[in-house]
Amino acid sequence: MNYHKYDAVIVGAGGAGLMAALYASRGANVAVVSKLYPTRSHTGAAQGGIGAALGNLEEDHWEWHAFDTVKGSDYLADQDAVDIMCKDAVDIVLELEHMGLPFDRTPDGKISQRPFGGHTNNDTKKPVRRACHAADRTGHMILQTLYQQCIKNEVQFYDEYQFMDLLVTDGRVSGIVAYQINTGELHVFHCKAVMFATGGWGRLWNITSNAHSLTGDAPAVLLNKGYPMEDMEFFQFHPTGIYKMGILITEGVRGEGGVLINGKGERFMERYAPTIKDLASRDVISRAIYLEVAEGRGIEGKDYVYLDVRPETVNKYFEQDGIKNPDGSPRTITAEDIERKLPDIADFCRTYLGVDPIKDPMPIQPTAHYAMGGIPTDADGRVLVDAQGTILPGAYAAGEVACVSVHGANRLGTNSLVDLVVFGKRGGMAMMDFCNQVDLPALPDDPEGDVQAMLEFLLEGDSGTSAANIRKAMQEIMMRNVGVFRTEELLTTALERVRELKKQFRTVYVADKGKRFNTDLLEAWELGNMLELAEVTTLSALNRTESRGGHARDDYAERNDDDWLKHTFIQRDGENYQIDYKPVTIGRYQPQKRVY
Ligand code: FUM
Repeated sequence: MNYHKYDAVIVGAGGAGLMAALYASRGANVAVVSKLYPTRSHTGAAQGGIGAALGNLEEDHWEWHAFDTVKGSDYLADQDAVDIMCKDAVDIVLELEHMGLPFDRTPDGKISQRPFGGHTNNDTKKPVRRACHAADRTGHMILQTLYQQCIKNEVQFYDEYQFMDLLVTDGRVSGIVAYQINTGELHVFHCKAVMFATGGWGRLWNITSNAHSLTGDAPAVLLNKGYPMEDMEFFQFHPTGIYKMGILITEGVRGEGGVLINGKGERFMERYAPTIKDLASRDVISRAIYLEVAEGRGIEGKDYVYLDVRPETVNKYFEQDGIKNPDGSPRTITAEDIERKLPDIADFCRTYLGVDPIKDPMPIQPTAHYAMGGIPTDADGRVLVDAQGTILPGAYAAGEVACVSVHGANRLGTNSLVDLVVFGKRGGMAMMDFCNQVDLPALPDDPEGDVQAMLEFLLEGDSGTSAANIRKAMQEIMMRNVGVFRTEELLTTALERVRELKKQFRTVYVADKGKRFNTDLLEAWELGNMLELAEVTTLSALNRTESRGGHARDDYAERNDDDWLKHTFIQRDGENYQIDYKPVTIGRYQPQKRVY
């Protein structure tokens, strides 16, 4: 057995994992185990900014940020957690700046801020500049900054190690089992505390902004061990993915003035969100695009619309809407501004589409982007094992994989980065305190035995269905039936299909029997995880007979606070799943109808 001993092990090296590692390493010895090289983690794909009410360019308040977050969540977010996030965001952004994060600057040297969907001046209801940005590479810069800080703090990194099992002894976390990708060897990490910071699972859908690594491994392992997931029916579709590829085109494009245009040349968001238009929340815009396409107003009647950031278009609408700079002068944008503020987007479009966004509009469609649900936690990242709030001692989660819940039924853009640094930090500090209070638990007997048996099972067959075929079928049915709009019929069909695919998966064929970089084996294992999450997502969506945020049911078109102002907890019960509920924590903001 390859054996390692630490106080705390963090699984995942994105923003949440690195922030947690940094803080835990101030008083505990910490390892980070990641299936990727850390700076390749998906936090790097968060482009447009991190929200914080710094008020550098105009009046703003953290309470306005909190209200926008709650409204954006369609009132499903827990308001005590939202208050923590929006208040702490201000200091944490300054802390990141002091760590060396190269934010863009205002002419007078402050951190520059841009508008983003759903972020408003609560008095005028107009967009407010709240997203602090480093061009369109904000998440990437967060990763680089935090990784350097972790190296300085002597955090130990195990790069390209795939987490495969959580070890629990007498009701307490005692470690993990991981698979070393370049050797095929198993490693046991014996520790007092484990944090999951493994990101989302957008790869369940065939059009997604998510990297290939986002397969939901940790939630699937936990589900199979009998632990619950929260609010799995809420998965966000970002409105602007590159057509057919899903690669993200940041909302920062619309923050800089870009507009959505249908096949009739109309700026259609004027009809769906008259006040805030192209900067409405993502669920509202994704549904609007879907409806435009369904009603035949896609570009050339096809299933996409345009995102137009050409200076002549943007300047026309700035003038029409009376948009001003902070000094009161009329706002305008030039080709140079686009190259400077959105360099990666310009590059992606030229590379992947052959489209120059300065001269041409960009073809876009909604893309599966972000899991609002996940591993239930409290505000210190402690994992909850039931709707009553019982914790699993030593288990933590933060970032996209966790459900605190600060995003409720729909996340506002920029709030993923806020979530992962705020709750990564709180979770890291809580882990450090925990590690300093408890002894190392014993390991279970034969700690890697279950993983060994599972890998042998996957490797033993010499024929069967390839993982790629099953995965393709799963992604297609999830896209068609568990996407932007849902109905009982669509969801029931999806559930049957996913269950068939799960049966087929029992005969999955792994052709590569080798040890080194056996991606064939790993992809098969990841597929098993995705099928589990596809089933719980579909079941949770079928169960919620209302429309709220990212969960839009054609057959239950209204939000129903009387029956559904509650979080879903889904948990294994033998071969089946059972559902329980947890009340939403309401604070200053009573649920209202959302108008943008
Ligand atoms: O549009 C974007 O830049 C994405 C950011 C986010 O998901 O928060």
